[in-house]
Amino acid sequence: MNSAPQQPDDRLDQALAAILAARKYRKIHPGLARDIAAAELAKGRTLKEAVKAAKNQLHQGAAAYLRRNLDYDDALTRLKSSVPAASQGPDSDPSVDPSLRTLLRRFMGAHASTYERLPILDTLYQQLFQQLSPVRSVLDIACGLHPLARPWMPLSPDVPYLAYDIYSDQIDFLNRFFDAMGYAGAAQQRNVLDGMSTPPADVAFLLKTLPCLEQIESGAGERLLHQIEAPILIVSFPNQTLAGRKQGMAQHYTANFLSQIKKAGWQADSLSYTSELLYIVQKN
Ligand SMILES: C[S@@+](CC[C@H](N)C(=O)[O-])C[C@H]1O[C@@H](n2cnc3c(N)ncnc32)[C@H](O)[C@@H]1O
Repeated sequence: MNSAPQQPDDRLDQALAAILAARKYRKIHPGLARDIAAAELAKGRTLKEAVKAAKNQLHQGAAAYLRRNLDYDDALTRLKSSVPAASQGPDSDPSVDPSLRTLLRRFMGAHASTYERLPILDTLYQQLFQQLSPVRSVLDIACGLHPLARPWMPLSPDVPYLAYDIYSDQIDFLNRFFDAMGYAGAAQQRNVLDGMSTPPADVAFLLKTLPCLEQIESGAGERLLHQIEAPILIVSFPNQTLAGRKQGMAQHYTANFLSQIKKAGWQADSLSYTSELLYIVQKN
């Protein structure tokens, strides 16, 4: 007896199940994995080919940046045991404590983007925030572990900081980090390509993120720049490959970005570092 031909939805469900079954992707946003698998199947690929291509895209856009596994429970235990001593200072704010900062540096080393930023933590946020009016709310789009750099940002603990990324375990860790540090902040598992609006904020970080999103959906970067309701966008581009081999990559990415800024009639100032080229975009 011949079995009935598989319906398109069955194939998509199977592709999604195969992606989420991989240890590397089990915590990833299922909606994003589904969208990518659907696009691959729509190209006429077999189920096996579509799963392979979708995993490859998820690797390039996200998993490749995870340098090593961070044991989130262990990291939280260490953080929580450091916070009381770190909060002994005059403002009871643990942010300035050197040993706590050393711990956070170690955690940030687990993600390539924050790892590359470690040498400039002490200068980057000073130079950046001195160019901004007082910041009362922050969005961090496709944040990775960047919210762990919040102690280096001249922000009061009660400034709301909303961060999005696609790994549920990383998001849970960031929420527990905000809580342990006494910061007003929330992290949410979200596919920022979903077209949904984000709450308004004074400043939105899009650090080293546009090339990843463009790889998944061409044109997504420009759409997001317009969609985010923040008068100031802090957009950066990596200046080296993940392996650190090729320097000067930022120029390659920025040509398109700068023409989009010009077309929109926005202003952009830049801050240049060895690892990263950063733009402060004023939308109005
Ligand atoms: C190059 S890393 C940059 C991380 C962080 N912004 C930083 O610079 O430290 C790109 C990040 O985008 C996230 N990402 C990729 N696709 C995404 C999507 N569709 N929605 C939200 N985050 C996404 C990845 O998980 C990864 O953390």
